[in-house]
Amino acid sequence: MENYEIEKQKEYIKKIKKINEGKTLFYYILTMGCQLNENDSEKLCGMLEEMGYKKCENMQNADLILFNTCCIRENAEDKLFGKVGEAKKVKEENGAIIAIGGCMMQEKHILEKLNKSYSFYDVIFGTHTLHKFPEDLYKVLEKKNKIQDIIDIDGEIYEGLPIKRNDKTKASVTIMYGCNNYCSYCIVPYVRGRERSRKKEDILNEIKTLAEEGYKEITLLGQNVNSYDGGENYKFANLLEDVCKIKKIEIVKFLSPHPKDFTDDVIEAIKNNKKISRIIHLPLQSGSTNVLKKMNRKYTKEQYLELAKKIKEKIPEVVFSTDIIVGFPEEEEKDFEDTLDVVKKVNFEQVYMFIYSRRVGTLADKMEKQIPEEIKHERFNRLKELVEKQIEQNNQKYIGTIQEVLVEGKSKNNDQMLTARTNTNKVVIFEGKEELINKMIKVKIIEDGLWYLKGEVS
Ligand code: 5AD
Ligand code: SF4
Repeated sequence: MENYEIEKQKEYIKKIKKINEGKTLFYYILTMGCQLNENDSEKLCGMLEEMGYKKCENMQNADLILFNTCCIRENAEDKLFGKVGEAKKVKEENGAIIAIGGCMMQEKHILEKLNKSYSFYDVIFGTHTLHKFPEDLYKVLEKKNKIQDIIDIDGEIYEGLPIKRNDKTKASVTIMYGCNNYCSYCIVPYVRGRERSRKKEDILNEIKTLAEEGYKEITLLGQNVNSYDGGENYKFANLLEDVCKIKKIEIVKFLSPHPKDFTDDVIEAIKNNKKISRIIHLPLQSGSTNVLKKMNRKYTKEQYLELAKKIKEKIPEVVFSTDIIVGFPEEEEKDFEDTLDVVKKVNFEQVYMFIYSRRVGTLADKMEKQIPEEIKHERFNRLKELVEKQIEQNNQKYIGTIQEVLVEGKSKNNDQMLTARTNTNKVVIFEGKEELINKMIKVKIIEDGLWYLKGEVS
């Protein structure tokens, strides 16, 4: 059944290719949001390229404009509507097709707004209908109808869609879809549905192919990767072990785990496999037990600290990164101080900081005591200051060390320099020949900064 569906979509891809024959057509894609969305976009690009479209970087030149949306925080909404407005002009000038997909399309109020004020779109699809993009687009091209293809039930997992990856060294592989956790601030469980894990064989075969193609670094993706369920007692730790066995893959990362599911077998797997990155992302969200309870995170401040301590004891070279939300409803000054306290104690090397954003339909949105904007910003700035100070101090310890790094490419700001990453995800820039790109090499760190380290080939 699943295969049949994808075969059907591949037929639509062929039909569109035929319609497009002899024409030079361009697509423009804008991806908002997380790495999972980036990975979805790589699949959309794969389909479009097989249909005969070529990628362009400027919306004005596009025959097809595609927005892959995210709804995790509110600023994305304003951005989307602004961009759809821009796309309207391109449509009026050259008849471009406008397609909008992704998480935001699963939200009723967004659909209503699009249908009311932006009804010039051609295709809207949701998180469970991404694989049907060829069929939806074909209907638009053939019948000139506009299509709204959204379903609310959890989509199946479809394998075998074409994919065009953004990078030649690093690749992301989605291992599971959806989330069952219902953190009270988060919209994801409502727009991405319940947890569904891919079959281990499909994941491992995909990674083996990537290894053969020359990819060196794999990031396993999911909203909650460590609740991966491969059936018959095959859990996330088993998957990690098997991915590490694949020759030619040098670095294995995963995003995002949930602290409540960070079981001992996962810690053991990290300890035993040097290919696994030595920076572990452990989303904290808040350091206050009180707030964590209201967030429905299912751990206390003490349990979080205990977990970080346990991991560090078992794998001393490990460092941590995290996500923190400031200004959750009812967060008091003393709660925020608990967050600062955990930041100091765990000494994170990277912190993704977010100002709490109300999401329609979530429990936290209904909580009475929302925090005023100026307090949220004031706390955010205090957290930022602490984090930056800590990162600066942490970076000093790298000076004089020899680091084994994966060379990713030329530095964006200076094409005389190469850029690489340590196994703790620190960016290192250094002078070196292009042949080093996509290789693991040793560099000596000679200088530190807030955003990157400077090194020399050792
Ligand atoms: N407001 C602010 N940040 C949020 N996140 C998720 N939902 C919200 C929200 N409503 C953050 C969390 C999560 C990261 C991906 O986004 O920190 O870990
Ligand atoms: Fe959202 Fe929580 Fe699920 Fe992460 S674990 S996607 S924060 S509900």
